[in-house]
Amino acid sequence: MSGTLRISICDPNEASRENLKKFLVGMDKTWLEADCSRYEFFREIVGETTPDVAIVSLDTDIERAMGLVADISREHPNCGVVVVSSETDGQLILRAMRSGAREFLNSPVQLEELVSALDRVASSSTGGSQKSKSGVIIPVAGASGGVGTTSVAVNAAVALAQNPERSVVLVDLDLALGDADIFLDVMADYTLLDVAHNISRLDLALLRKSLTKHSSGLFLLPRPVQIEDNATITADDLRKVLGLLKASFSHVIVDLSKSYNNLDMVALEAASTVLLLTQLDLPCLRNVVRLLSSFERHEGLRERVKVVVNRSGLEKNQISLEKAENTIGGEIFSRIPNNYVVISECRNNGVPLIEQAPKAAITGHIVELAERVSGDSTMNLDTDSKDKKSWLKFLSK
Ligand SMILES: Nc1ncnc2c1ncn2[C@@H]1O[C@H](COP(=O)(O)OP(=O)(O)OP(=O)(O)O)[C@@H](O)[C@H]1O
Ligand SMILES: [Mg+2]
Repeated sequence: MSGTLRISICDPNEASRENLKKFLVGMDKTWLEADCSRYEFFREIVGETTPDVAIVSLDTDIERAMGLVADISREHPNCGVVVVSSETDGQLILRAMRSGAREFLNSPVQLEELVSALDRVASSSTGGSQKSKSGVIIPVAGASGGVGTTSVAVNAAVALAQNPERSVVLVDLDLALGDADIFLDVMADYTLLDVAHNISRLDLALLRKSLTKHSSGLFLLPRPVQIEDNATITADDLRKVLGLLKASFSHVIVDLSKSYNNLDMVALEAASTVLLLTQLDLPCLRNVVRLLSSFERHEGLRERVKVVVNRSGLEKNQISLEKAENTIGGEIFSRIPNNYVVISECRNNGVPLIEQAPKAAITGHIVELAERVSGDSTMNLDTDSKDKKSWLKFLSK
């Protein structure tokens, strides 16, 4: 995640302008360059502030606003213009698009829609910069119970959070028996249930306040307290929760359940990369084959899955990596060594690997895995940058 999306807005209506400002100010990766209440001044303001995105409300004077959209689009091709209107007339949308608008938002603007629109504008930015892209979602799935999903999800998330340029949240989607909070030894005030049920009322600042911060810098959204409540979280709720987390955090790690239910599928579909953990035994590998084949039925999902072997070296007669690759018909992306003593100590003490055993091979493997899937090209491990290197110091302590 690099950079911030710089935004200038123009809306003569004070109430809707304030609503938009409130959303933008709450987002971590956006910067409000200017907010303007007069159409006639905005062209000059865009010239001076050269924002990445200009948001123009059409409602006060459609003709004037359309002219402004056309001027800005022509004069500043690198600035993505987003228009906002309470009208949903197809002709109006078409006109706005023909004037150069990249996105059309309905007023009153909903936070999730704003986030998605900004994300699309940032992705299609002609400047080719990585600016402002919203966060990556990395679900950690398992080919069987007890395969090490939570150990890897928690420790990879903590590893990512060591870099102060990142903001990382871990979501425990193992709704019945999830134990991410135990691994981190934290007591949360709110759970996924609270956030899911209040999602339409939350802005990004409130969302962050609902999360529990671990001393490593990682935020946690734990599973609900009562098992009976789980059924009340809908796929749509979760889609919105993940959308908002993505807008607010550079990395969203999700510890999946092993049931591959509709909520797990929501996280998988939203994923940038999926880590599928397996061990080198036949039942696990057979499940990997089944899961990969099932993922093929969801567009683009199979390609995003990285198979990770956990507890490598556990037994002498373990299936070899080569044979495992032949069995699953694909590559093993990464291998995490077996170290029961260290990892169970971590869990029992509620202390992450990088604190408990910074020099252990298992720690290095999980840190490296987290980096490889971080999607963050600026975080090259052999970078010369002092700042970027410093967060890795814990490994050499
Ligand atoms: N690399 C490893 N080496 C040794 N032991 C490990 C390793 N990874 C995990 N374990 C151990 O395996 C057990 C299960 O780990 P964990 O709880 O992380 O798995 P899980 O897939 O999340 O389980 P569940 O299906 O119950 O959610 C724990 O006792 C943990 O300490
Ligand atoms: Mg688990």
